[in-house]
Amino acid sequence: MATVLITGAAGFMGSHLVDTMLTDGHTVIGLDNFDPDYGRQIKTRNLTRACGHDDFQFIEADICDRAIINQIISDVRPDWVLHWAAKAGVRRSMRSPGQYAAVNVEGTVNLLEAVRKYLPVRMVFASSSSVYGACSCLPFSEQSDTSRPISPYAATKVAAEALCHTYHHLYGLPILCMRLFTVYGPRQRPDLAITRFVRLMSHDRPIPLYGDGTATRDYTHVADVVAAVRAAMAAEFGFDVVNIGSGRAVSLAALVRMLEHQMGVHANLQMLPPQPGDMAHTLADINQARALLCWEPQMPLEEGIRSFLDWFAQQPDDGDEEE
Ligand SMILES: NC(=O)c1ccc[n+]([C@@H]2O[C@H](COP(=O)([O-])OP(=O)(O)OC[C@H]3O[C@@H](n4cnc5c(N)ncnc54)[C@H](O)[C@@H]3O)[C@@H](O)[C@H]2O)c1
Repeated sequence: MATVLITGAAGFMGSHLVDTMLTDGHTVIGLDNFDPDYGRQIKTRNLTRACGHDDFQFIEADICDRAIINQIISDVRPDWVLHWAAKAGVRRSMRSPGQYAAVNVEGTVNLLEAVRKYLPVRMVFASSSSVYGACSCLPFSEQSDTSRPISPYAATKVAAEALCHTYHHLYGLPILCMRLFTVYGPRQRPDLAITRFVRLMSHDRPIPLYGDGTATRDYTHVADVVAAVRAAMAAEFGFDVVNIGSGRAVSLAALVRMLEHQMGVHANLQMLPPQPGDMAHTLADINQARALLCWEPQMPLEEGIRSFLDWFAQQPDDGDEEE
């Protein structure tokens, strides 16, 4: 069994990784600084299951604090680092681009610098479909152009991927960059479309819909992301990049119709102009993940939404979260 360090452990996906790694019998160290972009009470709740587990240790720390990160890596000596910590909103990144660069780029360098001193260790990095930016060749393959990101957030992910490559090249650190496509499921961040829409619809409040509803996204269930990470831990890689998506594009309008149908309510749409920084379409070519990880997405969107709604119904009302 391995020692697995998970950054961003209290977040949406990070906390699912924690739960699964514990179930798989690993020793898990979760690191998170409870970034205030959304409520600490939500993140604490995400870790409820893990906190009672003997093989789980939580460290509240900031990846921007180089000395602490060095200390943690030298104490823990992880076999695996799952680097999921980041400031993660596209629109918010336009309001505080410097903070995004500090956490997503400098924080990633801090981690890479610390980790490379304690080889052998392997790393999986949560990159994003947003790296494809202005590239219009759908579906996006790992060879598609990533030189034209269209938001500060996307630019930080391009930069972090480049740094991962550099650390592999210089020090032989095995790193797999997973380009994740719009991830949803239980614990999804409150600022993201599905959680936000469901919360507003359940209070009969208008949904802000940017654009005319024809924008499309490749929605990926968090269980499929976790399965891909598990598969990565059984795979061989040097420096590799894989798209993790469902391979199916769904328009915003179709997503809203699906929610209306499953919730049995009518959505009151507030049509707004498209947001700068938002991509018009995303769709993953997942052949590389199939080949490298022997992985296949399992969760159809309709079923994933159903499981999300079941989870949502059990949650306390945390109020509205600003985008
Ligand atoms: N949700 C998606 O659709 C999606 C898509 C592509 C990529 N990603 C990437 O996946 C990762 C997780 O995303 P998520 O949606 O679970 O977001 P999240 O905000 O729920 O999780 C990120 C966690 O990182 C923590 N964090 C932020 N800054 C930190 C710092 N300086 N030090 C330590 N911890 C810090 C936050 O407190 C948070 O708990 C991010 O790297 C994100 O960019 C997400």
